Amino acid sequence: MTNNAPIGIFDSGLGGISVAKEIHALMPDEDILFYGDSAHAPYGVRSTDNVQELSMNVADYLINRGAKAIVIACNTATSAAAELMRSTYDIPIIGMEPALKLACDLGHGKPQHVIVTATELTLREKKFAALMERFSSTHTIDKQPCPALVDIIESGQFHNAQLVNSTLHNYLDNYDMSSVNSIVLGCTHFTYYRDYFQALLPSHVRIVDGNEGTARHLLDVLTNNDALHDSDHEGEVHLENSSDSVRMMTLSKEFLYL
Ligand code: DGL
Repeated sequence: MTNNAPIGIFDSGLGGISVAKEIHALMPDEDILFYGDSAHAPYGVRSTDNVQELSMNVADYLINRGAKAIVIACNTATSAAAELMRSTYDIPIIGMEPALKLACDLGHGKPQHVIVTATELTLREKKFAALMERFSSTHTIDKQPCPALVDIIESGQFHNAQLVNSTLHNYLDNYDMSSVNSIVLGCTHFTYYRDYFQALLPSHVRIVDGNEGTARHLLDVLTNNDALHDSDHEGEVHLENSSDSVRMMTLSKEFLYL
C-alpha cells in the first residue's frame, strides 16, 4: 500500500457523496474513489445481516482497487459492518454515527432536546443504543426514522420541493419545536436536505451532521499513520455506482457539485 493510493469511500447510494466532497475539500491532494451501492439502496430498511454482507462486498471491491483506507460514508453500514470490517482488514476503517454528541455539546452544559433523524436500522442497532445511553440521562432525545428522504434522492426527485416539504412535514409536525434545540441529520442522504429543514424549522433549532467530524477524523488517522499523499498534486474524486446507469452517474455528479 502506498501513500498515493486512493481513499475508498462508500455508501448505500448517493448520500455519501456529501462526505467525499467534505474530504476532498479538507484534503485536496488525496485521490478519492467513491462507490455508491444504489442498486441495493436503501440499506436502512434491510436486515442487519444483509447490510453487513452488502457492505463487505463493497469493502472487498475497494480493497481490490488498492484503497489505503475506507470511509464508511453511511451511518447504516457502519452500524451493521464496521466492527467486522475492522477485524477483517488491516487498513484504517473510518465509520460514521449520528452526531448526537455534537448536538448535546451545543448546550454548553444545559440539557438539550434533540431529534435524531436516521434510518430504521441505525436507530434500532446496538451502536446507537450505546450512544443514546451516554446522553439520555441528561438530555431529551427523540428518534425519528425518515426512510422516504433516502428514496427521494435515489429516485432523482430531490428538487421536487412540494414532495420534499410534505415529506418533512409528515415526519416533523408531531413535535413541539418550541422545546427542540437541535436536529441531527444522522444519515448521509439527509445532509443534502439542510436548506429544506432550515426553511421549515424555527430559527432557534440548530441542524447538525457528522460530515466535517468524519473528514477531520480521517485526516488525523492518515496523519498518525503517516499515510497522507506524499506529493503535491490535485486529487481527483472518481465516482462509481453499482447501478451503472447513465441516470445514476448524472445524479452522482450533480450531488458532487451541489
Ligand atoms: N446514507 C445512509 C446512512 O447514512 C443510509 C441510506 C439508506 O437507507 O440506504 O445511513
